[in-house]
Amino acid sequence: MAVSMKGKSLIEIQHLTLEEIYQIFDLTKTLKEERLIGRKHHVLEGKKLGMIFSKPSTRTRVSFEVGIYELGGVGLYFNQNDLQLKKSESVSDTAKVLSRYLDGIMIRTFDHQDVIDLAKFGSIPVINGLTDLHHPCQVLTDLFTALEKKRKLEGLKLAYIGDGNNMAHSLLQGCSKVGMDISIASPSGYKPLDFVVKESMENAEYMGSKVEILDDPIAAVKNADIVYTDVWASMGQEKEAEERKKKFAGFQVNPNLVKNAKDDYIFMHCLPAHRGDEVVDEICDSPNSVIFDEAENRLHVQKAIMALVM
Ligand code: CP
Ligand code: NVA
Repeated sequence: MAVSMKGKSLIEIQHLTLEEIYQIFDLTKTLKEERLIGRKHHVLEGKKLGMIFSKPSTRTRVSFEVGIYELGGVGLYFNQNDLQLKKSESVSDTAKVLSRYLDGIMIRTFDHQDVIDLAKFGSIPVINGLTDLHHPCQVLTDLFTALEKKRKLEGLKLAYIGDGNNMAHSLLQGCSKVGMDISIASPSGYKPLDFVVKESMENAEYMGSKVEILDDPIAAVKNADIVYTDVWASMGQEKEAEERKKKFAGFQVNPNLVKNAKDDYIFMHCLPAHRGDEVVDEICDSPNSVIFDEAENRLHVQKAIMALVM
């Protein structure tokens, strides 16, 4: 029997059970296959999704807007300047008001606490479309893509090279929840936050897998099934970009580094990629790269999430 996720917010992967994660993947597979043969699933007929963006987006915006439309509902887009949110109105009042009009909210913002508060004070499900701390929709998509390509998740090893940022945090939670090994190599001062590492180590211990936080990219990539990277300077850190380029030298995913991974490794990146910095063209455009399948899967995974929680 499937577990009901109706009304549940998706704030971080840590809040999902293994059963819920696989329920999302099962529905994703069905929605993806049936979309290919033109079958429509208007399971959210007439439902309204508010989409709040305090940071720019290509994939998240377009895939959520197309996704809610394909499910029979409608998406309302708000950028930073459209709402009173955190300017002349509190998060809690905004949550209560929006709950009277909408059936769900997707939000991309800076402060993770704002997403927690929207869910806490509102009465409709809230989906985290990226905060400074987490990017759960992306990592659920990454795991679904890995499952498609490798036919299993448990026992795989993912190596993440680069900044200990929102992507690193959600990958730590996601991989450890499903029993994958994860090795992260970051320069000192840019490691993932201790409390996220700790909770992921606890997940991994329960699943019998491993979490490693390393200094050496070569050691991290050793025997990896998946090599992953993300930008060195995230949205909001543009002023640090030049300094970070210096600090992250040696943490580039290039042909020399991936020699240490398994021969049939796959390369993943949440995108946008800063080609020439954290990764080079030869890797992004190689037969091992699945970056565009990964981007496509954002649509299918988020449709499944919306269908389940709204
Ligand atoms: N990966 C991702 O979230 O892309 P966008 O910033 O374009 O939404
Ligand atoms: N770490 C990146 C991810 C973009 C999808 C950022 O926050 O800008």
